[in-house]
Amino acid sequence: MFNELPFSQACENNKQPILEQLTKWLVNEQCVLEIGSGTGQHSVYFSEQLPHIRWQPSDQPIYLENIKRRIELAKLNNLQFPVALDVTKPWPTLNEQVHSVFTANTLHIMSKTMVEALFRGLGTLLEQSGCQLIIYGPFNYQGKYTSESNANFDALLAEQDSQRGIRDIEWVTQLASAQGFSLVDDVTMPANNRLLRFIRKTSK
Ligand SMILES: C[S@@+](CC[C@H](N)C(=O)[O-])C[C@H]1O[C@@H](n2cnc3c(N)ncnc32)[C@H](O)[C@@H]1O
Repeated sequence: MFNELPFSQACENNKQPILEQLTKWLVNEQCVLEIGSGTGQHSVYFSEQLPHIRWQPSDQPIYLENIKRRIELAKLNNLQFPVALDVTKPWPTLNEQVHSVFTANTLHIMSKTMVEALFRGLGTLLEQSGCQLIIYGPFNYQGKYTSESNANFDALLAEQDSQRGIRDIEWVTQLASAQGFSLVDDVTMPANNRLLRFIRKTSK
């Protein structure tokens, strides 16, 4: 018998507000790579709601089996099986050109070194001007928390692993800029989260 699939209540809570923005930003038919798909709930929901998008989930190898099981149950033609992608290792070769990357709740889980590796990888992957990078999660502004709950969350992250933590938007924007991406949207999301959209301005 199968074990129950891992489930994230946060994904259930944030998927609709995220979709409202993705609907505006992912208008053209294209392949979207998701980094750190986790339970695969976002992958299933967004590919179901955006049938013109070919959704490519990915995560560290240990997560792939359960994401694959969730995808098999969903039976969606535009949702690919997940690929192994650890941002600190060589990135996989994908079947098709990726035009946008989506990643949720990953930057505070990755160490700073991993976040730097993520942006280097994105700079190579999203090489054409107009490519988009969409990031969901909590961020600090001018070194300050945006809420008490984010401050508490950050303390909890540090207890789990000293390398984890809520990132400064200025640092993230700088890393993105070094790869040719500009911040074009910063949208308020429920529970003191943000949805950031970067667009690549220059081709490599
Ligand atoms: C809090 S979970 C978020 C999962 C999902 N995106 C969501 O919103 O529920 C953090 C995710 O970051 C991924 N992650 C952490 N370090 C990573 C790395 N070095 N490379 C790729 N993904 C990583 C984890 O595997 C996990 O799926």
